[in-house]
Parts: sequence; C-alpha cells; structure tokens
Amino acid sequence: MSKSSEVNKLTLAEQADRHVLYQESVQAPEAEVDFFEKTFKALRNRDAVSIREDFCGTAYLATEWCKGHPERTAIGVDYDEETLEWGRKHNLAPAGEDVAKRVTLYKDDVRNVSDEKVDITCAFNFSYCIFETRDELRDYFTKTQKGLKDDGILILDLFGGTECEDVLEEETELEDHPATYIWEHVSFNPIDGHMACAIHFEFDDGSRMDNAFKYEWRHWSIPEIKELLLESGYKNVRVYWEEYIDADDDDDELEGTGNYYETSEVENQESWMIYLVAEK
Ligand SMILES: C[S@@+](CC[C@H](N)C(=O)[O-])C[C@H]1O[C@@H](n2cnc3c(N)ncnc32)[C@H](O)[C@@H]1O
Repeated sequence: MSKSSEVNKLTLAEQADRHVLYQESVQAPEAEVDFFEKTFKALRNRDAVSIREDFCGTAYLATEWCKGHPERTAIGVDYDEETLEWGRKHNLAPAGEDVAKRVTLYKDDVRNVSDEKVDITCAFNFSYCIFETRDELRDYFTKTQKGLKDDGILILDLFGGTECEDVLEEETELEDHPATYIWEHVSFNPIDGHMACAIHFEFDDGSRMDNAFKYEWRHWSIPEIKELLLESGYKNVRVYWEEYIDADDDDDELEGTGNYYETSEVENQESWMIYLVAEK
C-alpha cells in the first residue's frame, strides 16, 4: 500500500498535529507583540528589546518578537522537551538563522531560570495559574521581578466573567483547518477555586481529538493577582481591558475589538480576557 493511501485511511484527527491547531486556536502573537511595543513605550519612553516568555510552549511568541526587529532577543522557558522541540522545528527553524540565534530556550521550571535580565517578562494563556496557593504564586512573581531590568515590566493575561466559574463548552470554527476548537471548563470547585479545563478538536469528517491539552488551575481574581504582585515587590499594577463594540449582526451582542485600554472600573461581562501589567 502506498504512503498516500495509508494517509487517506487516517481520520482528520489522526492526521492532525495538536500544536498546529493550538497555535491557530489560542495564540495571537502579532497582537501580543503590538501590545508589548505600545505599552512598554508608553510606560518607559523607550523601545523594549528583550523579552522572556515563561511557559513558552512552542516559543511562538518569542519567535514573533525576534522577527520584528534585528536587535531583539528572547528567552523562552518551558519544562516540556517535546513541546520545545516542536517549537525549534516548526517556529524557530522556519524563521531563519538570524531570528533563531536570538531566541534562547531553557528546558526548566520557570522558577529555576534567573539568567539575564530582560525588559519584559510575560506568562500567557493563564499558565501561571498552575500556582494554586498565595505562597507559590508570590514566590513565582518575586522571581519574575528579580529577572527584570530596573525599568522592566511583567505582563500577564487573565480570564474571568460571570460565566467563567460554570462548567461550559465554547466552540470556534478554525479558518485554516477543517476543524472546530472546543474550550471546556470541566469542573470548578468554589471552595478552593480549583478549575479543570481542556481543549478538544472536532474535525469535519466527524473524528475528534479529545483532551489535546488539559489544565489544572486555580481561578484567581484580578484583585488577588494585583495584591500578590505588589506583595512580591512590584511598584504598580495596571489593568488593561478589551474595548468592545456592538456586534455587526446583533445589536444586543458585544464583540471584542482586540484593542486594550487601561482602566480601574468596568461593568462585569459574561466572559473577559485582560492583561495585567506590573511595573518593577
Ligand atoms: C497553557 S501552555 C502555554 C503555552 C504558550 N505560552 C501560550 O501562551 O499559549 C502552558 C505551558 O507551560 C508549561 N509549564 C507548566 N508548568 C511549568 C513550569 N512550572 N515551568 C515551566 N513550564 C511549565 C507546559 O509544559 C506548557 O507548555
């Protein structure tokens, strides 16, 4: 049997690469680089050059950062070798030698790496929520603070909203693949704030990739994170909220614009994703 007929017998789920689907579904590094550039310049009146991407996974963001300017550098830290190796092959190598040589990847726990100091450290897609006690999270924040230059900033994302603590599934059709991305809140325990989440993919031929990624997190609130950042030595913490407009097809629905503005008071929404910026 030829290789192509063997492939044809596989379902779309069996042929799919979970990292490719993850990057398309969950990550938006160009928008994040744009947010880094604008926010750092506005707060520090200079251009950021170096970043550190904690929980970097495939180093998609670190790679995009370095693509943006020939002087930029990035450190990526993740303890999962399979994911880092995927990133080296599919993100760094295609970006070319000049970009790849400016991205340094460490296979380690984010709490163990404290090498060179950077302008911006980020921990995205809520990865730092694996630290489920105040002591663990404060310890991590203290370490990030020490790894920043004197005018450096830490950027985190966080999700929440009135629906967030419910068990739910949200489906989004992918543009570049014949697949639907499914984000599931599997469980939430209001007593300790622990939540289990999972990512699944469903394909146009009916096949599924269940539990492509699974997460065990504490669902932290914005004030808890702000307090812990200040306790760990950051001087100031700003919250950036997404700007919403009326949806094109339904006046009762709002849709996010992808633009974020700094604010300290908002009306709660069913679901939101924000950036927290902590200044050293
Ligand atoms: C939610 S993914 C985030 C991937 C990417 N940064 C993003 O924004 O989509 C979480 C990543 O964190 C890594 N990870 C979890 N705990 C870690 C730790 N303590 N130290 C280093 N990496 C960790 C996992 O291996 C995984 O690749």
